[in-house]
Amino acid sequence: MEKHTNLNKSFHIQTFGCQMNEHDSETLAGMLAEMGYIENENKRAADVAIINTCSVRENADKRFFGTLGQLKKVKEERPDVVVAVCGCMMQQQHIIDTLKTKYPWVDLIFGTHNLHEFPKLLTNVLNERSKIVDIWEDGGEIIEGLPAKRMYPFKAFVNIMYGCNNFCTYCIVPFTRGRERSRRPEEIVAEARSLAASGVREITLLGQNVNSYGNGSDFSADFADLIYQLNEIEGIDRIRFMTSHPKDLSDKLIAAFRDCKSLANYIHLPVQSGSSAVLKRMNRKYTKEDYLLLVEKLRAAVPDIAITTDIIVGFPGETSEDFEETMDLIRRVRFDSAFTFLYSIRKGTPAENYTDQVPEAEKHERFNRLVDQLNEITGEINKTYEGKVEGVLVEGPSKTNPQILTGRTESGKLVHFKGTEDMVGQIIPVKITEGKTFNLFGITETVE
Ligand code: SAH
Ligand code: SF4
Ligand code: F3S
Repeated sequence: MEKHTNLNKSFHIQTFGCQMNEHDSETLAGMLAEMGYIENENKRAADVAIINTCSVRENADKRFFGTLGQLKKVKEERPDVVVAVCGCMMQQQHIIDTLKTKYPWVDLIFGTHNLHEFPKLLTNVLNERSKIVDIWEDGGEIIEGLPAKRMYPFKAFVNIMYGCNNFCTYCIVPFTRGRERSRRPEEIVAEARSLAASGVREITLLGQNVNSYGNGSDFSADFADLIYQLNEIEGIDRIRFMTSHPKDLSDKLIAAFRDCKSLANYIHLPVQSGSSAVLKRMNRKYTKEDYLLLVEKLRAAVPDIAITTDIIVGFPGETSEDFEETMDLIRRVRFDSAFTFLYSIRKGTPAENYTDQVPEAEKHERFNRLVDQLNEITGEINKTYEGKVEGVLVEGPSKTNPQILTGRTESGKLVHFKGTEDMVGQIIPVKITEGKTFNLFGITETVE
């Protein structure tokens, strides 16, 4: 049989979902690059078109099927194209059933636990021109040393653990990503060192709940220990992490914020609701008061820490009093910003069967009120940056005006300022001249 050659072949990956998925796509891109493929911006022209899916909310599901529908035409016109789908949706049996019956033209289906097998699976599809569906039930041993084709040369995602054991009652992730498994600290430190050597200035440590890093493993380091080790690495100037569950945020980690120069003054700490009754039904294992106390401790240790969060509106049984508790909490905490979500029923989660669903109109009314209040607070906080000089890690020219650069403060805020190309990838002092709700504007000393 004639073997397939990848010379001048191209790929396109469309990614839905969280940073974990984005990083998985970087791994896929890295593996494809090693196989000789080049990236193609145009998904209709690529030889391998991949969709990396997310199942966290219903609209993510809908967008996936919409996108897949677009690829059907491409497949009809160019039957040689390989269409591959992967990611969290593939770990759900009803999705696989739908794909098999309604989308039989999809060439390759794989899941979150066998990402590392992708080169082999793709080669099999190409050589045998057969359709492959390969889904693993749970993650086996952690595979080290996979390549990654990263979006920026100066900042990088680093997985520290996989999976989730928390089973929040609304959430699909424990079903799509399996049980918690932590990478060995020496592997993580080695990766961070090699990233630093290649010019990376900022790393974001990834895990569904980084605070339980190391639990159940055969090494003794916990998450704070890991941060102390990473803080020693020359060249890594900013360490971020995502996501931290309030129930496991330790005093030791709060101390690390104070002690570690490279740990950014930023934390994403999803609260989900301000009502202790709702939190209990969500199985979050903390109360409104616990959360407020954590915020107080964080601010006592790092007064200028930026705190962002996730909030779900309309969880089953959320009364208007419960919702007012959330409004009260956001006014007391004053989040730097927040991601807000309408509750979305997920098949297979405990809350799927909760009967007291909040009516749609009520959900939307609450949602709009919440967003208005959050935006007002964000705008007020951002205004307090005016006149300050912030170190900005410059990401590149702005999409709308190439003379304007964009970058982020240590606290994670997006800044626009006039600069020169050579600043990209560096941390530049920028004087903030204007703080708006969604971004800051500033000037540098050198470029007026
Ligand atoms: N591991 C992270 C969250 C991952 S999912 C954590 O525990 O914080 C990202 C966010 O999606 C969650 O924080 C939650 O706010 C939201 N989310 C998850 N499931 C949802 C659902 N069924 N409906 C609406 N929002 C949901
Ligand atoms: Fe989902 Fe909860 Fe796990 Fe986060 S901690 S991924 S919200 S189950
Ligand atoms: Fe979505 Fe999976 Fe992330 S469900 S939010 S891509 S872990």
